[in-house]
Amino acid sequence: MSQSEHRKPASINYIGATMTDLLPPSPYSDGDVDTNDSRTPSLESLANERFSRRQTIFGGAKASSLALFGTAMLAACNSDDSNGEGPVVSAGGNAATSAGRIVTLTGSATGIKGLKSSGWSQSSGPSVEIMGSGDEVTFIAPAVEAATDFVFTYQATNLFGVSKTASTTVRVSPAVLGFAAVAKNLNDIVTVPEGYSVTVMTRLGDPLAAGVSAYANDGSDDNFAQRIGDHGDALHFFGLNAAGSRDDTSSTRGLMVQNHENLNVQYLHPNGPTTNGDGSRPAAEAKKEIEAHGVSVSEYKDAGDRTWSYVQDSSFNRRITPNTPMSLHGPAAGSAMLVTKYSSEGTAGRGTINNCANGISGWATNLTCEENWAFYFRRDASDATARTPRELTALSRYGVTSTSGNFSWSKATPSDDMFAKWNATILGASAAQDYRNEPNQYGWVVEIDPYDPASTPRKRTALGRFGHEGAFVQIATGQPVGVYMGDDSRREYLYKYVSNASWDAADGNASDRLAVGDKYLDNGTLYVARFDADGTGEWLPLVFGQVPNRPATGSAPEYVFADQADILINARLAADALGATPMDRPEWTAGNPMTGEIYLTLTNNNASNRPLNGTDAANPRHYGDPKLSGSVSYGNPNGHIIRLREDGDTTAATTFAWDIYLFGADSTDADPTNVNISGLTNDNDFSSPDGLYFSRKTNPAGQVNPLLWIETDDGAMTDRTNCMLLAAMPGTVGDGGAKTITNKASDGSTAQQATVVGAAASAANLRRFLTGPVECEITGIDMTPDGRTLFVGIQHPGEDGTPAAPTSHWPDSQAGSAAATVRPRSAVIAITKDDGGVIAL
Ligand code: FEO
Ligand code: CA
Ligand code: CA
Repeated sequence: MSQSEHRKPASINYIGATMTDLLPPSPYSDGDVDTNDSRTPSLESLANERFSRRQTIFGGAKASSLALFGTAMLAACNSDDSNGEGPVVSAGGNAATSAGRIVTLTGSATGIKGLKSSGWSQSSGPSVEIMGSGDEVTFIAPAVEAATDFVFTYQATNLFGVSKTASTTVRVSPAVLGFAAVAKNLNDIVTVPEGYSVTVMTRLGDPLAAGVSAYANDGSDDNFAQRIGDHGDALHFFGLNAAGSRDDTSSTRGLMVQNHENLNVQYLHPNGPTTNGDGSRPAAEAKKEIEAHGVSVSEYKDAGDRTWSYVQDSSFNRRITPNTPMSLHGPAAGSAMLVTKYSSEGTAGRGTINNCANGISGWATNLTCEENWAFYFRRDASDATARTPRELTALSRYGVTSTSGNFSWSKATPSDDMFAKWNATILGASAAQDYRNEPNQYGWVVEIDPYDPASTPRKRTALGRFGHEGAFVQIATGQPVGVYMGDDSRREYLYKYVSNASWDAADGNASDRLAVGDKYLDNGTLYVARFDADGTGEWLPLVFGQVPNRPATGSAPEYVFADQADILINARLAADALGATPMDRPEWTAGNPMTGEIYLTLTNNNASNRPLNGTDAANPRHYGDPKLSGSVSYGNPNGHIIRLREDGDTTAATTFAWDIYLFGADSTDADPTNVNISGLTNDNDFSSPDGLYFSRKTNPAGQVNPLLWIETDDGAMTDRTNCMLLAAMPGTVGDGGAKTITNKASDGSTAQQATVVGAAASAANLRRFLTGPVECEITGIDMTPDGRTLFVGIQHPGEDGTPAAPTSHWPDSQAGSAAATVRPRSAVIAITKDDGGVIAL
């Protein structure tokens, strides 16, 4: 374990998906109405008034949030002389702060001998947890919707039992972004604001079992089935209590579940990957590359005061790789299209690959999403003549067209079934004798129980097969479970799955978590989104009998759907037939835990897929972004973030309202009217948004006005800065208005596009929190329930370098310097605030 800690001299989960309901926790149990004086309405009346204007989807928040609202004006009192004799006590002066900050209460007792005891208690205001004991204690200012007074009393008692008290009032204002923006930079370190620190956690190759050697990082290592994989992507912290059981409230021990999407293959071998003269690959290299993909589970532990490290020999540690047995569930399981040499029934498979973003169920399981799986498969030229026109249409639509497949694994020698399955060429007499259908085994959302290392992951076919980026799970009691999913390719779609069963909160604590998954994720309806020009949209059901045949396109004939399994396996073809809206590369989805609004990153698009005359209201820009080199990228190179609110605030809605929350732009050189539409500045400009995540609703950063975190995977603004993480306080759908954009193509021609935009960005609601090392992407994010540790993934630093000349040396470089030969490694970092407060507030 090798955690190096880097302290910067200078300056956060939504979590909608992980909670079993949408209630904030309820530490505010004594927001007594009687703390109000005559000048203010009662807390209850204030709260009722406010809630009456709210929608009911998340109505569960009403009761436990009562104490969050309203202003209690309190007079502070000083020392209490009623006892005549005793200590002279002071509670210090009154103070003001904002939600999420650490407040220190310091009392003193003087002028006496024989002091027996002293301490603090809360006298009024919504209840907070006082940490520590004696004269000096602390608490974290809780979320409030308006300035709220909290009164604390210090009491000292002498040896004769005579007590004296003094009080102080702390006024807490609503949460604000409380850090100084990080400047854009090209440094080979993670930069965080003044007052924050970075601890490097699990890195590529770190051992996950006792006896596995430390990672040499020179290309000699093997056994990735017991090491952290490469290209760490989405991550989530699943809490554990001291006894080693699931505990959603634990902020000191948990299981880090992380996807391993892809490889910086040049650094995995001594001199990069080897291809033999006959085109074959050494089996040992191929095995290493395969096992470095998938998912890892590693235990993280806080030794005290957020001193984090991982536990190499934890019994929970696990690697799930492209070789791990999986079972297929839902309507497509057992389809003839899923029959392979491994599973003649079409009900099982091996492994998961290109695991990109994730989703967290309301029953504490992890959903890992298979994104660019299509490119790993080989199809020899002979396959084209052996396939039916239907099959060829489907293979082409999904891009299963390579004649080698990524890394040429099927050509590994000596051969083995773990290599052979990547060859989808028809070779045998039937589907049960070869891997012609193996590509149909990927492109799914896969459910994993992180607490049971022996459990078999389940592929949930009801959620459709495509290039799954992520799967945000929306849970509200009494409503169906909703899963919002982007398909990450240019001109692909946004999907939603809606369960047949309505959410029963009791299922959130079931011990057989995968059985709960069977209930909610195997029976439901898959929809795809159409975004209309007027700021509304419709969910179109992918249901056999309601989906027309996909019309002939180009040389591909009409595609006639055979059954529901066919529709789910070929969801892209069904979505085409329904007239869904092609988007600018849908990446992560995230839901605001207070409003239920769904945000979707549209990372970017190029000019051929978003030409001047091919824009629409939801993908409205075509422009050029100049680079310092002089080259200009056209299309929508900087991307945007769209958001939607379901009609009736229910996951079951078939219509919604939308607007564009933010437009990426390089503030230095973008047209301020038609490109930098959100008004970005040096402190918050960004390009190519990808990861998206709301602070957990279990802490002040996820309550009242939850923070949205935006991660970038950019190539457009990388002339000025490495990729970054921003913190935002977004408003709501409809907080801006209609806008007509004048787009401009490379030849100077222009075209108008009307759209609906959100309120502009400002220093108060959008700020750069972190920049990463050279050639990295920032991806993967979660926080402890208390919001005091933020975990962030740094993926593929130095991705353009070579073994002889790495272009990044991170994370070794984080400590200040590293040898020029040190190879970079993807890694998770833990970010903490030096004073122990909630991250970003
Ligand atoms: Fe794997 Fe779309 O990023
Ligand atoms: Ca630029
Ligand atoms: Ca991504």
